[in-house]
Amino acid sequence: MFTLLPNEHWDYGAMDAIRGLRAAWSRRHSRIPWHIPISGLGPCLPIRSARAAIVVALKALRLPTDAAIGVPLYCCPVVFKAIKAAGHFPRFIDVDPETYCLSAADLAAKSSELKAVIAVHMFGNVCDVPALRSAAPGKPFIEDCAQALGSRLNGRLAGSFGEIAAFSFRSGKYLSVGEGGAIYCADPDIEARLLELITALPLPSRVDESVHVATTYLRSLFRTRPLWGLIGTRLWDAYNAMVSYTSQSPLVLSQIYETDRQMTLRRLPLLGSWISKQRSNARCYSQNLSVDAGMLCSETPGAFFNRLQYPILLPTSGQCDRLVARLRENQISTARPYKDIAAITATHFGYTGDCPRAERIASRLLVIPCHHALRAADVERVWTCVNRAWAEVSVRRRGMVATSTHRGATSLQPEQHVGTMAEPHHTL
Ligand SMILES: Cc1ncc(COP(=O)(O)O)c(C=O)c1O
Repeated sequence: MFTLLPNEHWDYGAMDAIRGLRAAWSRRHSRIPWHIPISGLGPCLPIRSARAAIVVALKALRLPTDAAIGVPLYCCPVVFKAIKAAGHFPRFIDVDPETYCLSAADLAAKSSELKAVIAVHMFGNVCDVPALRSAAPGKPFIEDCAQALGSRLNGRLAGSFGEIAAFSFRSGKYLSVGEGGAIYCADPDIEARLLELITALPLPSRVDESVHVATTYLRSLFRTRPLWGLIGTRLWDAYNAMVSYTSQSPLVLSQIYETDRQMTLRRLPLLGSWISKQRSNARCYSQNLSVDAGMLCSETPGAFFNRLQYPILLPTSGQCDRLVARLRENQISTARPYKDIAAITATHFGYTGDCPRAERIASRLLVIPCHHALRAADVERVWTCVNRAWAEVSVRRRGMVATSTHRGATSLQPEQHVGTMAEPHHTL
């Protein structure tokens, strides 16, 4: 309980809160937002969050109302809320089994229906945006880089391929500043429209900012050891059980909190070293996990994943549940991102069941802690426990006997490994 390892690193201490309050109360009153420079990309327009960035980006594209926006089924559902808030509707596209991002083939099949595409770079993996653009020629692309700050493809940063890119600095992401987002746009005309739209957004009041600082500080405290194991997980579970889907992850359109903007500027120079650390953690997992290679997400040729998250894809959802439970018994938190996405989108966004691969991935994927605050001993504990738990879980399914390996884990014979898509997919 005291030692439960958090799956995310919400880095926001007392000094950050004091600085935040100072920033909130000394805020300038100009409505014109100052730029946030993202190295390798250029100046970006700050905004309250990535979800607000997507709303504004869609508006700046001046699409006809009620337009179909291509978006992967497997992504953060707040993106679908943003599409709706901009006056459009999501047209769900299936995902690629290598990257868990948009499938070029499914995009090509549905492209004639679309007015724009949102390419989401999931987990810090990168989509092949040039290939996607060929699959949907002439459509404007918004890159959702909420999880992909610093990821690259063929030497180019994620965010530089589309018409507009949205970034998130929210707690749990790399910079973990509370909220905060930014928009990058290389086209001067669209950028001028974006600036106009952002400038028209309300500025948060000083009281709102102070409340934001206090809640960010408290929520981050409950996300750190020992409070995470003692009470944090229970608070999060209770909140999620109590609050309806529609009220969760609210979408507020406003300018960025000054405190978030200042902390983003302070932390951006540290991004490179944090990404190096997380990539080294990911490398360690990839080398030491005794699981079928198809269960891990390898970097595609030419890609540089920032490794915000380290996903493992299990052959069945039952195995995923059991692995999560075994890791929890071993004091390791994991997450099952968007596991109910098919049901949520069917209920709230008109999903009709035509993205079977995304459904399979959603129901069988878990992410293990990979953040840069992990010590080497934590990383070793995670892969050792995953190996032990997976040996038990997979053996239980197949009724086979596990054998010990030099890593202190248990391994399976080759014929016991099961393909990543072994279970029939769930339809709605
Ligand atoms: C893929 C993706 N897009 C968009 C968002 C929204 O970002 P924000 O929380 O900054 O609005 C998130 C995260 O919450 C995300 O993971």
